[in-house]
Amino acid sequence: MPEKEQLTPSNPVSRRQFLKGAGIVIGGTAMGSVFLLSSCGDGGEVTKTVTKTTTAPGQTVTTTAAGQTATTTVGAVTKYICPFDNQEFDTLAALKAHLEANHVGADAANITTLTVNGDTYAFVDLKPYTSLLYLLREKLALFGAKNGCNMGECGGCTVLMDGKPVNSCLVLAVEADGASIETVEGLSDGITLSTVQQIFYDEDALQCGYCAPGIIMSATALKREKANPTLDEVREALSGHMCTCGNLNTYMAALLNLR
Ligand code: FES
Repeated sequence: MPEKEQLTPSNPVSRRQFLKGAGIVIGGTAMGSVFLLSSCGDGGEVTKTVTKTTTAPGQTVTTTAAGQTATTTVGAVTKYICPFDNQEFDTLAALKAHLEANHVGADAANITTLTVNGDTYAFVDLKPYTSLLYLLREKLALFGAKNGCNMGECGGCTVLMDGKPVNSCLVLAVEADGASIETVEGLSDGITLSTVQQIFYDEDALQCGYCAPGIIMSATALKREKANPTLDEVREALSGHMCTCGNLNTYMAALLNLR
């Protein structure tokens, strides 16, 4: 799958810019906000996106000691908005009923919801052959998962699905309905690296870095399960990954803190 032309080091495009460029409205930063995406064709283009998060009355701003101020959002309310007429609904079921009753051609039964890095997304009319990898990269502009072979052999596309590493190129997006997906973008808050990221950083484990996101996700799953894995366990965890720089031993050594 070709990269977006504009995504070059000299002309970086942030995820927010990408989404805006695709006609997607980004709104609401409250936890649990829901993004509703509507797609057409083979999934190559987002035609309309509706996003809305409103908060109930009674928001509080709490001032704590030493001049620190903490803002607490109370009663965040998620609205599902019809991509065709912008009517708002409190539940996904209500939106489906509205689609069925009012919008001929909209496949109301074909709504796929999944949580990605803590945000919940709902996709209308997702094609049955759309892969999870395509969805992440081309719909959500999460480019951490790499499209190396697109056939389950390189491990570059590895993400966590309900905590388990999967080759996202081999998972159909509709199969992920209801699942919780973690990508490398979700591991760090942008300031503090995750434990595995820090290990690889400290040990200078990666070279070109192309395979690193997938390896980091598999290593993250391993480390969550076993804080101090054995060499065999590390080997098994990384066995589905290829590193064309030849750095797999360095990755393994970093995970074992051997260096
Ligand atoms: Fe999925 Fe290579 S791109 S395994």
